[in-house]
Amino acid sequence: MTTREQNDFLAQTGPGTPMGNLVRRYWVPALLASEIAEPDCPPVRVKLLGERLIAFRDSQGRVGVMDEFCAHRGVSLWFGRNEDDGLRCPYHGWKYDVTGQCIEVPSEPIESGFCKKIKLAAYDCIERGDVIWIYMGPPGGKPPAPSFEWATVPATHRFVSKRMQECNWLQALEGGIDSVHVSFLHRHDLRSDPLHISQGAEFTRETDARFEVIETDGGMVIGVRRPATGRQLYWRITQWVMPFHTMIPPYGGNALNGHAFVPIDDEHCMVWCFTHHPMRPLSAAELDTMRNGGGIHVKLLPGSFRPVVNKDNDYMIDRVAQKHHKSYSGVKGIAMQDAAIQESCGPIQDRSKENLVSTDNAVIMARARLRKAALALNQDRAPDGLDPATHAVRSAAIVLPEDANFYEAAAYALVVREGVAHASV
Ligand code: FES
Ligand SMILES: [Fe+2]
Repeated sequence: MTTREQNDFLAQTGPGTPMGNLVRRYWVPALLASEIAEPDCPPVRVKLLGERLIAFRDSQGRVGVMDEFCAHRGVSLWFGRNEDDGLRCPYHGWKYDVTGQCIEVPSEPIESGFCKKIKLAAYDCIERGDVIWIYMGPPGGKPPAPSFEWATVPATHRFVSKRMQECNWLQALEGGIDSVHVSFLHRHDLRSDPLHISQGAEFTRETDARFEVIETDGGMVIGVRRPATGRQLYWRITQWVMPFHTMIPPYGGNALNGHAFVPIDDEHCMVWCFTHHPMRPLSAAELDTMRNGGGIHVKLLPGSFRPVVNKDNDYMIDRVAQKHHKSYSGVKGIAMQDAAIQESCGPIQDRSKENLVSTDNAVIMARARLRKAALALNQDRAPDGLDPATHAVRSAAIVLPEDANFYEAAAYALVVREGVAHASV
């Protein structure tokens, strides 16, 4: 059983918390590069791990991510003027560069050197895979650049979106490594969503699913088997890379999908959605489907990352569709089904009340692994999942003889192989 203390330990990621310290050791997806597309474009507010930040791109194209509030009297720099290599607070004109250094205090004589003494907290950034990542950890601990396959394929092979989810990051992550819910929650979409329809999707509708979880250098490989044809088993194999990356097993000839469940604060997370094909550009039809809320993506309220379907409209639940076996939950769209279900547990699920079963093995092991890694920071042990080699893995969906050891038989399919497509039925 998870105690309240353990629950808080896992869920809370604010500054100074053990889990917050752990997550801060990784590169964290902070915003889409397109949110600050051009030099001197408007600044953007970003909230991560309970910290309110401002992101901007200066006149030279350099990206800065720093404390949102002006060091003078605390005005939000979201109102700032992004001009001539710096962001200027519109209240009294103090100006900051991308490192957070104050470079101008117009009301003070330059000779006083006052502005040199003022610096906002700022984080190192890196741009990869159409995403701006930041490092919020201790100086000297910055890991090598992230190298997930979706982030390293040509831009034409990739589609990235994000949506705000109104619950703690951990319950969203737990949905990502709980492959069994697909047979229930997404049951009907497996036959209707164009990016899922496949023979594998038909096998996935089988509810007799057994779990096998293998710990890896970067996280876990989660194998779930269901009956296929004859004496064969259909294996859906998910990857979890610490702390919050998942790779969803593919369906037929469709592209690969993955998520990052990034804490915004303890009661909200940003669900990043990555779709990529290792071998080819995504087609116009695929892109169109995703932009319209198909696959693992959702339609957003204009000017925000909040889904159109959300808790304020009861997720537009369709009870008729639910009754007539068109939608298992009555919520439309795979991603919003996950969001609705996970948000329904409350902002932070009380895990002391749950009753776990064998198909929750991956969830149990991930919690233990995260807790262990957070505690090990006290002994100066670097966490797993920092090494880019642990990112170069793939999910897979394959059919194997019933006596095969899935981890050995699928080994070839679970790593990135340049020029070779993913394994998928
Ligand atoms: S509050 Fe920003 S310059 Fe005064
Ligand atoms: Fe799901």
